[in-house]
Amino acid sequence: MNHFINISDLNKDELRSIIDSAKRKKSERGKKSASQPDNDQPLQGKNMIMIFEKTSTRTRISFDLAVKQLGGSSIILNQDEIHYGKGDETIKDTAKVLSQYADILMIRTDSHKNVNEFKKYLDIPIINGLTNEGHPCQVMSDILTFEELKGDIKNKTIAWIGDGNNVSVSFMEAASKFDFNLNIACPKKYQPSSNAIKLAKKNKTKLLITEDILEAASNADCVMTDKWISMGDKGDKKKKKKILKKYQVNKKLMKAAKSDAIFMHCLPASREEEVTSEVMDGKQSVVWLQAFNRIHAQKSIIEWCIK
Ligand code: CP
Ligand code: NVA
Repeated sequence: MNHFINISDLNKDELRSIIDSAKRKKSERGKKSASQPDNDQPLQGKNMIMIFEKTSTRTRISFDLAVKQLGGSSIILNQDEIHYGKGDETIKDTAKVLSQYADILMIRTDSHKNVNEFKKYLDIPIINGLTNEGHPCQVMSDILTFEELKGDIKNKTIAWIGDGNNVSVSFMEAASKFDFNLNIACPKKYQPSSNAIKLAKKNKTKLLITEDILEAASNADCVMTDKWISMGDKGDKKKKKKILKKYQVNKKLMKAAKSDAIFMHCLPASREEEVTSEVMDGKQSVVWLQAFNRIHAQKSIIEWCIK
């Protein structure tokens, strides 16, 4: 069994095999609708418990569909419905109990520490469905989407514009594993965490961190951004938005990238803040495919976890 908590926990071959298997399985499905099962049913007789301590549209639904396509079943729990979430049962005890009921656990929580604590006591694999420190499932799915449209991501350039948040940190981990260039444009105050930068340096990541959005976007194959205020943000939101105002992805910025560059956003978006509707609804935008591919990338992640 394998846990999927950080991109950096997996080696290059494991990560590549997850992406390649997602491509293969997606193409084998042909024109099946999202709720139709695959021909093989690797998750038959197995179930996945999902705990959401914060809101989710895509992760919740795409994991549910992923499990269904693989022939398994899922139970979705919100924070206020379970003892651990309400704070009246320890992670250790909850983990011991869930191990009796489920074959795999997915959790979305603020605290990365809690995910590691669950891992310590679980007898089943755990998947990180987003913490304040990372969103690895999103990034695997985005790599799948990128490669579907633009070919091998190796040596390509991804420009991340805006907040140095959890998603950008998972991209930093992915950049060295998949060998792509990552240009991050963000204000100094909102750079990715120093731990993430340290790890990137140690891994010899081809990483540029700049305050100049045009420099970051220059020659990029893909421009991406995310909400300026993440679910786990505790600071002064008004001040943060004011500082990030210059970091909007708009038509002018897209022009600095390659003429065939794509635009990505993990969603949900705050239109007219980090991205204009013109870009989000424009020809270069692939945001709906990104949301769809969450199903396919996560199926591969699940299969890798239960191996
Ligand atoms: N991108 C993403 O994880 O979306 P949700 O918050 O809707 O799950
Ligand atoms: N950075 C965002 C991602 C949402 C999918 C957040 O953590 O809220």
